[in-house]
Amino acid sequence: TTRVLTGITTTGTPHLGNYVGAIRPAIEASRQPGAESFFFLADYHALIKCDDPARIARSRLEIAATFLAAGLDTERVVFYRQSDIPEIPELNWLLTCVTAKGLMNRAHAYKASTDANEAAGEESDQGVTMGLFCYPVLMAADILMFNAHQVPVGKDQVQHIEMARDIAQRFNHLFGAGRELFVLPEARVDEEIALLPGLDGRKMSKSYDNTIPLFAGGAKGLKEAIAKVVTDSRLPGEAKDPDSNALLTLFSAFASAEDTAAFRAELIAGLGWGEAKQRLFERIESQIGPMRARYEALIANPAEIEAALQAGAAKARAIAAPFLAELRAAVGLRSFT
Ligand code: TYM
Repeated sequence: TTRVLTGITTTGTPHLGNYVGAIRPAIEASRQPGAESFFFLADYHALIKCDDPARIARSRLEIAATFLAAGLDTERVVFYRQSDIPEIPELNWLLTCVTAKGLMNRAHAYKASTDANEAAGEESDQGVTMGLFCYPVLMAADILMFNAHQVPVGKDQVQHIEMARDIAQRFNHLFGAGRELFVLPEARVDEEIALLPGLDGRKMSKSYDNTIPLFAGGAKGLKEAIAKVVTDSRLPGEAKDPDSNALLTLFSAFASAEDTAAFRAELIAGLGWGEAKQRLFERIESQIGPMRARYEALIANPAEIEAALQAGAAKARAIAAPFLAELRAAVGLRSFT
């Protein structure tokens, strides 16, 4: 069997980047014969960036509904809330004790903050919590707890998975007594669309406020968001540079190579930006539209989601608890389940 695992931080409304980078490939991977999958709502990670409890709760509901509407089959996938699995923070501690500070010093997640502080002439550690600094260790605990082989993610998360491998190797070396306690996980990134651009052409990200939400606002909301993709002022009939903005890349994430090439040719031949946006909308809507009714029904009935998550947590803990007992024994703590 191949174990596939991925998580999404519950701080915002799910957007096209989350869908293309993680949700869609994860669900596809979970359908492979022999796959055993673990998908979760990373709400401990959410606390790193967000001190608004209502926002975390809302985001958790939206992300859960998105996974289910996108076709996650709770019979095949262990689907849970990170914070329902107390074995994860416990493993986090065991890993923290073998993780070199120097490894964390190189993590993009916190360096982005210190770099921004320095650029703004502020003290470099301003606003950097220990949660942010140690975030890759918690992520390693998520992955190693279930001995995942494959982790479908966008390119921005690859460094964290490499760190999880390093931490796993170190732990195996120290405590494995010749055995591989942890599987060394691998990132699974779709090379064609490793990072989906947002409205302004930078990486689509909650922190840049340039996202296209998947379901929020319905089909109308999707269309309005697409209308905000930044383009130049060339008129219909004028040749366009298809690589001057995010439209073509967004299109390619929902289209075959042939259809993308045809769209590119039409832009060069003078297709208007307005018409191009309409085509992009129709293309995305053809995939997202059929999921929308299910999404809305789930959001309106949180009890169904809650039941699914609690059942998922029970399955996850049945795996995590005995494995943690083994790990506790390996490091010299009392083991119990
Ligand atoms: P998060 O919540 O920032 O993003 C969730 C997933 O969406 C992907 N993604 C993108 N992919 C392509 N283009 C984009 N513009 C884009 N924006 C986001 C991310 O790469 C990610 O796969 N730390 C993680 C959550 C996490 C996790 C884990 C993931 C916690 N533990 C264990 C995998 C395994 C995060 O903050 O992702």
